[in-house]
Amino acid sequence: MPQTLFINASIACLDGASGYGLREHGALLVEADKIAWLGSMQDRPESGDAEVVDCADRLLTPGLIDCHSHLVYGGDRADEFEMRLEGASYAEIAQQGGGIVSTVNATRAASEAELFAQLQPRLNCLLEEGMTTLEIKSGYGLDSDNEIKMLRVAQQLENEFQVRIQKTFLGAHALPPEYAGRSDDYIALVCDEMLPRAHAEGLVDAVDVFIESIAFNLEQGARVFASAQALGLPIKAHVEQLSDLGGAVMAAARGALSVDHIEYLAPADVARLAQSETVAVLLPGAFYVLRETQLPPLTALREHGVPIALATDANPGSSPITSILLVMNMACTLFRLTPAEALRGVTINAARALGLQAEIGSLEVGKQADMVLWNVVKPAMLSYQMGINPCAAVMQAGRWRSKAGLAA
Ligand code: NIG
Ligand code: FE
Repeated sequence: MPQTLFINASIACLDGASGYGLREHGALLVEADKIAWLGSMQDRPESGDAEVVDCADRLLTPGLIDCHSHLVYGGDRADEFEMRLEGASYAEIAQQGGGIVSTVNATRAASEAELFAQLQPRLNCLLEEGMTTLEIKSGYGLDSDNEIKMLRVAQQLENEFQVRIQKTFLGAHALPPEYAGRSDDYIALVCDEMLPRAHAEGLVDAVDVFIESIAFNLEQGARVFASAQALGLPIKAHVEQLSDLGGAVMAAARGALSVDHIEYLAPADVARLAQSETVAVLLPGAFYVLRETQLPPLTALREHGVPIALATDANPGSSPITSILLVMNMACTLFRLTPAEALRGVTINAARALGLQAEIGSLEVGKQADMVLWNVVKPAMLSYQMGINPCAAVMQAGRWRSKAGLAA
């Protein structure tokens, strides 16, 4: 069985209820695809036949996890970026047939191969920053064939790159133009045809909905959730991004893995999230791009111990960003997260938001050996700097994905 022994590492284990779980002068043994031993240098096992990696006191963290992205899409929305600079709002552009629907047109027109080629540079950015698990949503196809096409492209990434992909069906992302004025009919199509077909092809790990004035209402969201749960699928939701429709409370009451965006979630409602295991996923890229001023209810989330995750929300409209390190910086600067909360947000709490916390997200014996070695010593450096990528080496499921920076 192949073994790798990391020595002289500053290990951010992320194994406790708060903080980094930092072990200085640590060692860690990987056997096959799992972490077999973790402890202090003086107690480390014999190296035997293991490959020995001297970390030279550098930081070792779990592989990073982006738990909310729309990485598969056709075209771009640079023209809308310019329109917003001239004063149009995101909601106005959407109401005039732009926004998500314009990406739907470009995505429908693209082949699987074209979508695959377009997303590679975006994916590479994430991989180069130590991403080992990535969630990707459908939601720019808005009919069975095109939603399935998007999910197939997402699935194919696992064959071509060394990364774990979680596929989320987001058929209820926006109303396609051919259903204008018939949103209930579209939701029926989502529930009765699109989701069951995508699920039957093995393409759905979770189901998401966008509950918002420019998307779907609470009752429609609940219908999609009921269909998902009837198929045994976990649910999550885009909620309270632009207004408070009560989506987060509704989703949490149904046991959602996560409620995402939540700038407009009322602090008084946060207690109701804490009654479930639901993770609050904050998306500072969208907050930044849309120049939002309404901050998510961070004080209440902390008071109630709701786990907080962070994600890129990488998409062509509200969050054209593919740097998870910049997202960590934005979360600290814009939302006042601590650097420890930011790192938890892209590791253990992101794993929770995907229902994968038993397998990934922290460095603990028995967990999958997904880890990143960084050219920094202090974990806060990951959130503090902008534009520098200190990723030195990445291991995913016990196999090196890149090791260019192993030598200190
Ligand atoms: O998470 N809020 C809805 N969906 C995306 C935006 C998608 C788009 O603008 O294309 C989001 O921000
Ligand atoms: Fe999103």
